[in-house]
Amino acid sequence: MSVNYPFSQRIEHFVQPKQWASMRVAKELEARTGKKITHFEKGDYQGPDFETPEHMLDATVKALRDGYVRYNPGPGLPELREEIAKEMTQRGRKTEPEEVIVTAGAKQALHMSLLTFLEDGAEVIFPNPGYPPDEVWAKYAKAVIKHTPLTKPDWQFEVDKLASMITPNTRLLIINTPQRPNGHLVENPEEIAELCKKFPQLIVITDEIFSHVVYDGKAHKSIAAVPGMEDRTIVIDTFSKTYAMTGWRIGWAVAARPIIDKLSIFLQDSMTNVAAFIQRAAHAAMVGPQDWVIAKTALLQKKRDRIVAGLNNVPGLKCDTPSGAFYAFPDITGTGMTSQEFTDRLMENAGVAVVAGNAFGSQGEGYVRVTYATSDDDIDEGIERMTTELSK
Ligand SMILES: Cc1ncc(COP(=O)(O)O)c(C=O)c1O
Repeated sequence: MSVNYPFSQRIEHFVQPKQWASMRVAKELEARTGKKITHFEKGDYQGPDFETPEHMLDATVKALRDGYVRYNPGPGLPELREEIAKEMTQRGRKTEPEEVIVTAGAKQALHMSLLTFLEDGAEVIFPNPGYPPDEVWAKYAKAVIKHTPLTKPDWQFEVDKLASMITPNTRLLIINTPQRPNGHLVENPEEIAELCKKFPQLIVITDEIFSHVVYDGKAHKSIAAVPGMEDRTIVIDTFSKTYAMTGWRIGWAVAARPIIDKLSIFLQDSMTNVAAFIQRAAHAAMVGPQDWVIAKTALLQKKRDRIVAGLNNVPGLKCDTPSGAFYAFPDITGTGMTSQEFTDRLMENAGVAVVAGNAFGSQGEGYVRVTYATSDDDIDEGIERMTTELSK
């Protein structure tokens, strides 16, 4: 007899995310045709420019040999929480180790935070464009999802628009800076903070995963550092982007004790703990030499300049210069195509994979996301292929 799988209605919206469609199609195309695809679609570091440093590999092996191989329930190893607290204090929010939780990437911290505050009818405000996986959990919680459009061309929050959306039922506001998918910094955290402080029930989740990938000497600003915001903000960050540890799955959240206490129970009852030897590797990353992190950002800045110059020479494209993250977000309206048509044509005819901007929200229509954390050769080849295709 066939099985009638009784899936929960809560997961009715669990479909393959549009933002990773290009990645799936590129992989399939490569396997089927053997054709080399230029991968500008991944949200990851690629190639030899971004190898894991030896001292982190050594610390991982040592941790395994030293017996960090057992359950380690709780919000994280004390020595790691201490380093994260120091880092957050430097960022402007005075932090105790008890206000830190170590998670399986920023994604788990986001997932747990959203489910800790949202429920039927509770409101959450996301930026448009934003980070779609967050919305999956808001939908799961049956929350009311609102979007605040970021104003082009520099993708900023408009405080007046935001103010008109907040009600006594709004529990969460989501910010991400440096922003994904466009690489711009949120310039007015102080103004947003003043607005939030008027609503006693409002918590801000600030996703700061690219905090160490900021260019041109600009400073990363956290809304948690604005006086009065420390107890109503959850800061989320990750080792993925700062230390190029995407596959290690380790990140963190900083928030007031009552929030961390709830997140800690969530963590214990779901995954117990992030693997202890991975936590030791992350600790080694934080206490070890930081010059390579600075060098990596400088290298990414050069790659940014290379790709922005290249994209601006592609017929029909206009690309501004982002101040952080590792994405360019060119305006493709000059080609006369929609984001999806552009993405499909590049993939099929030129073997270049990018992500359609509307995968991140309606405001992303007319744009595509191009990741440049890859080799200079791949950047040049991708630009050349785009130019040839769009000159036809
Ligand atoms: C805005 C944003 N938040 C969170 C994540 C997830 O990061 P992590 O690898 O730490 O889970 C990503 C991944 O690219 C992201 O772009």
